[in-house]
Amino acid sequence: MSASPTLAIAPTASAGLDLARIRAEFPILRQRVHGKPLVYLDNAASAQRPKAVIDAISECYSTYYANIHRGVHLLSERSTAAYEGAREKVRAFLNAASVQEIIFTRNTTESINLVASSFGGSTVKTGDEIVITGMEHHSNIVPWQLLCERTGARLKVAPFTDAGELILDEYERLLDSGRVKLAAFVHLSNALGTLNPVQRMIELAHARGIPTLVDGAQSIPHVAVDVRALDCEFYAFSSHKIYGPSGVGVLYGKQALLEAMPPYQGGGDMIRLVTFEKTEYADLPNKFEAGTPNIAGVIGLGAALDWVNAIGLDAVAAHEHELLDYATAQLQEIPGLKIMGTARDKAALAAFTIQGIHPHDIGTILDREGVAIRAGHHCAQPVMQRYGVPATARASFAVYNTRDEVDALVKALWKVKELFE
Ligand SMILES: Cc1ncc(COP(=O)(O)O)c(C=O)c1O
Repeated sequence: MSASPTLAIAPTASAGLDLARIRAEFPILRQRVHGKPLVYLDNAASAQRPKAVIDAISECYSTYYANIHRGVHLLSERSTAAYEGAREKVRAFLNAASVQEIIFTRNTTESINLVASSFGGSTVKTGDEIVITGMEHHSNIVPWQLLCERTGARLKVAPFTDAGELILDEYERLLDSGRVKLAAFVHLSNALGTLNPVQRMIELAHARGIPTLVDGAQSIPHVAVDVRALDCEFYAFSSHKIYGPSGVGVLYGKQALLEAMPPYQGGGDMIRLVTFEKTEYADLPNKFEAGTPNIAGVIGLGAALDWVNAIGLDAVAAHEHELLDYATAQLQEIPGLKIMGTARDKAALAAFTIQGIHPHDIGTILDREGVAIRAGHHCAQPVMQRYGVPATARASFAVYNTRDEVDALVKALWKVKELFE
């Protein structure tokens, strides 16, 4: 192994970012675990929150929280303004045409289920097909399987190469059946780190009149997304992956489609008029937001997007790329370590196995060294099956990670090797 890394996590500047200042904004990163400085490399599962987000949520609950939309009192008006203000922030972040195209959900999973149930349930019939890729998270597989079971439609899966790159010709071939009602695919794979050519995938689908859904759960904190440039019909993401609170998700949908779709759930706030004979639904976006939403959580997401905008996603991406390259070079020096996912276009995470050592053992030993990674199937069991492994270890990066933390990861992995020799 090269020079022994230090375990003191000394932030440095990278890609023009002041990492010391950025890290100082994350109170949770200041702690030690098992007597070692915390090295948090489980960001693909959930990122941490800066103080600006924690403060926004705390301020909401401490000073102006009330239920939204139906109140005539000041607190309700303030909460409504903050909640709807966050919707505008999401609209701007995605460059959507209108706030009516931004639906708040619980998470990416619920956003996809909403589309499968409402769009799928109203348009998909026996014999129709849904196209996905082989590298999907379970969230972008199971809702379509449920839809297929209900309707008699079929799920078609576009394969990927050993490197983890989608085979575009195969994807295109699947679109050609004349029966495809939707193509739904991940932007950035949580199991491989592959950045899919989503612009091209959308164009190929559109050339055949097929609408598209992009699972942006992983891409959202790493890649600037412009839904109007992409021209996708739906884009789904979760707040907790982009430094916002958990329990909040977003579904972007093109207005004409959302207007044509039936409600996903029924209840308060999604109606205009209810009688026992008939209910008239509210306009977008309320039609898809039945019941009291996660008000403070949505406001927290707005604060998270402000925070990311202030840094700039380009700088974030450049820094994370540098970290990934630095990590990849060092990981490759460890005998028996195999990186899973070596696509040319890749971001933010390294998934790997070490011959003869179970990923859970790797994760457990790393934890004793203060290094938090994820070990498991990453809710992508078909990807594990594709490579014939039960699980992988995964280190995933965020804007606050440093080269010293990569060194700490690599040093801990050498320790794992020593323990198993
Ligand atoms: C690619 C991908 N899609 C969907 C999801 C589901 O996100 P959530 O659990 O927030 O619904 C995840 C979560 O890890 C993911 O990585």
